[in-house]
Amino acid sequence: MSATILRRKGMRTAAGLGLAAFLAIGTSLSGVATSAASTVAGGSPPPTITEQPFGAVAGQPVALYTLSNARGMRVRIMTYGATIQSITVPDRNGQPADVALGFSSLDGYVNKGGPAGVYFGATIGRYANRIAKGAFTLDGMTYHLPINNGPNSLHGGTTGFDKRVWQATEVRQGGAVGLALSRVSADGEDGYPGTLSVQVIYTLTNDNAIRIHYLATTDKPTVINMTNHTYFNLAGEGSGTVYNQVLRLNANTYTPINATLIPTGAIVPVAGTPLDFTQPTAIGAHIRDNVQQILFAQGYDFNWVLNRPSPADASLVLAAHAYDPQSGRTLDAYTTEPGVQLYTSNFLTGTLVGTGGKIYRQGDGFTLETQHYPDSPNHPNFPSTTLRPGQQFDSTTVYKFSTT
Ligand code: GLA
Repeated sequence: MSATILRRKGMRTAAGLGLAAFLAIGTSLSGVATSAASTVAGGSPPPTITEQPFGAVAGQPVALYTLSNARGMRVRIMTYGATIQSITVPDRNGQPADVALGFSSLDGYVNKGGPAGVYFGATIGRYANRIAKGAFTLDGMTYHLPINNGPNSLHGGTTGFDKRVWQATEVRQGGAVGLALSRVSADGEDGYPGTLSVQVIYTLTNDNAIRIHYLATTDKPTVINMTNHTYFNLAGEGSGTVYNQVLRLNANTYTPINATLIPTGAIVPVAGTPLDFTQPTAIGAHIRDNVQQILFAQGYDFNWVLNRPSPADASLVLAAHAYDPQSGRTLDAYTTEPGVQLYTSNFLTGTLVGTGGKIYRQGDGFTLETQHYPDSPNHPNFPSTTLRPGQQFDSTTVYKFSTT
């Protein structure tokens, strides 16, 4: 294979030694994690995977896969949108709760998301977050994308990767279980150039980590930025706001936005602003501060620039650590991406009924969307999101749960 690897997974100490070790094991030739090998050797049975029907969209059947491990963790992923439908993890007393916002049936995902969608748990592409005025120029050609969020294009446009049915293959390798979801995004789909062959591989490990591995190649120059849009609530979905949950972000700077949530192009220190999560801070502590950026976003909805030894570094680093004092559940997010979008469900208005039957409102979940910066194609000073023929897009994010 002559493909150039654009972003390599690495073993940075910031990722934590145990995690780095299992990810190193997990980087097999086929791109599929074999990470459970050590826990299998330790005596736990390997995680399992089962499949059930979950309805149909426009005549295409949708399947829901359940990945379960020996530690009481269960992740459900469906082929519509390559979407995480639920994540059930025990609290410090062993009591399980679903910590991901979602819907109980496919209908919710297809019809109840509102005009631009709420993207619960979805795989976002071809371009996560916003592209200003839905336009960008690449190699002298200007491309126009669907406008679906004010004056801008959001999360891939009107029929993004979150609204497509993906092909699923169960993966069992070296004691780990995974689900490989793939699709071919046609040249010109939602305005993007190039035929993009894309794969998202989810792996559940016995140490309560979900690994998400994105791979893509193109036959023409294009742009790509992929993420997962799970809304977390570590006390359980439908349990109220996340304002008491405590967050630390591994980021000293962020990309400020204008009134339509497009980056100005600046990269600015968080120190002295409500965006300073360099020390553990309750999500609600400054969410209503009378500060222009917070007012633009109606809460948190920003791209933080992850601390890295150099701008070109793409090793796996800790992006965020979240903690719920009530249940003791913790979440560590690691990524090879340069940024993370913390979004605090600012646009949930009580119109949606979630998986467990409760209404979702503003502040009821938080996302940690690992990503390249929003609107990068229009900001030459941001890390590039261009993908060319012969290159391989290769990006990894890990969400690891624990208790304290
Ligand atoms: C992202 C965006 C938000 C919002 C949500 C979906 O997090 O940054 O502004 O559009 O997706 O509602």
